[in-house]
Order: sequence, then C-alpha cells, then structure tokens
Amino acid sequence: MDGNGRWAKERGLPRLEGHRAGAESVREVLEACIELGVEYLTLYAFSSENWSRPPAEVTALMSLLDRFLDEKAKDLDRQNVRLLAIGQLDRLPAKTRALVERIKARTAENTTLTLVLALSYGGREEIVSAARSLASDAVDGKIAPSDIDNDLFASRLQTAGIPDPDLLIRTSGEMRVSNFLLWQISYAEMVIVKKFWPEFRQGELFEAVNEYKRRHRRFGAL
Ligand code: IPE
Ligand code: MG
Repeated sequence: MDGNGRWAKERGLPRLEGHRAGAESVREVLEACIELGVEYLTLYAFSSENWSRPPAEVTALMSLLDRFLDEKAKDLDRQNVRLLAIGQLDRLPAKTRALVERIKARTAENTTLTLVLALSYGGREEIVSAARSLASDAVDGKIAPSDIDNDLFASRLQTAGIPDPDLLIRTSGEMRVSNFLLWQISYAEMVIVKKFWPEFRQGELFEAVNEYKRRHRRFGAL
C-alpha cells in the first residue's frame, strides 16, 4: 500500500490525512475481496524499514492501526474473516500487539477470508529467522542439513500454512518489491497500478484482478 504521503501532498494536506484516506481503501478493498471470493489478502501495512520514519509519523500510523483494529474487530467476525499477522510483532507497541492478539483469537475459526497484516514486516528478516531456526535444529541434531528443502524451509517462515500469493499489487507506480514476502512471491503475478493507495478502491481492485485473469501462468514450464 504505497503513496499515502504523495496523495496528501498533492492536495496540500498533512501526510496523516493520506494515511487516513488509505485506511478507507483498506476497508473497501477488504469488502471487495470478500465479494470476489478471494481467500487470502495480505496487506503490507508497516515494514521493518518504516521504523526509521519520524517518530510522530510512526506514532500516528500505530494509532491509526489501533483504531482500525478496534473498529473492525466486530465486523471482521461478522464477515467471517480470520485475522493473522506476520512480522516482528514484538517491536509493536504493547497495546497494538494486544489488540492484534485479541482479534486473532476471536476470529481464529473464521473461514471466508484470511486477512494477513504484515506489521513491522521484512522479507529478509523473515528468511534469516527461518535459517536461524533450521540451523539451531541442525546443531541440536533434530535435523540433518540434507533434510532442508523448499517445504521444510517454508514451514519455518511466518507464512507457514498460508498459500503463496497469486497476485501482487503495488500502487503509486513503483517498480520494486521493497522487502515484501521475498520467498513467497517467486511466481506471483505483479500488477503495478499508477494510482496512489488512497485512490485504490473497489473498481481498481476489480481492474487488477481482471488484468491477472488475462495473464498466462506457466510456473517455468512451457
Ligand atoms: C504507504 O504510504 C503507507 C505506509 C508505509 C504505512 P507512504 O507513507 O509510503 O506514502 P508515500 O510513498 O510517501 O507517498
Ligand atoms: Mg512509500
């Protein structure tokens, strides 16, 4: 979800207004995904690199997240949405972490859509942590290095049990991955949308999905 700040700047508004408008896009896109029958939606809400933004912006983003979670807790359950979170959650403010944990527990049995929030998330950090856990098992003699294959590796990622994304959407026209799900997007179809995230609503999602449908996926085969 990129371009909140630029969206606000274009309108002469403070960046926070861009993040507020971006939260509206989240609500709308989530509804649209349910309507489309999407089973997993992962939102890159806050990256491990975003901690280096000015403290006031970090605080504002965290309180927007708190508000979103607080407001949506009932809705998510009513919509039969299950909430999961990936990332270095121990770096989040205690209040935010507690909210995430509470809603995760409350929605654990829901089956319509799984909403995965990437919070304080970095793909490299996730891969390093999987490697560390495998190395430690190898040192303890629980596994041999030759046991390590794609499946075992993937089972140590935070996304274990979550299917790899079919479609990766990036807004505001940026042509980069920015440390998002590095392992998992090996064969994801990428759709780059020029609009800023606050302008990415239901219609834009439907367009991106239509673009995806026109792609011919070969997974390296002919
Ligand atoms: C994305 O918008 C929102 C988050 C990172 C949480 P940005 O804040 O990156 O907006 P730009 O890229 O500066 O326009
Ligand atoms: Mg940005």
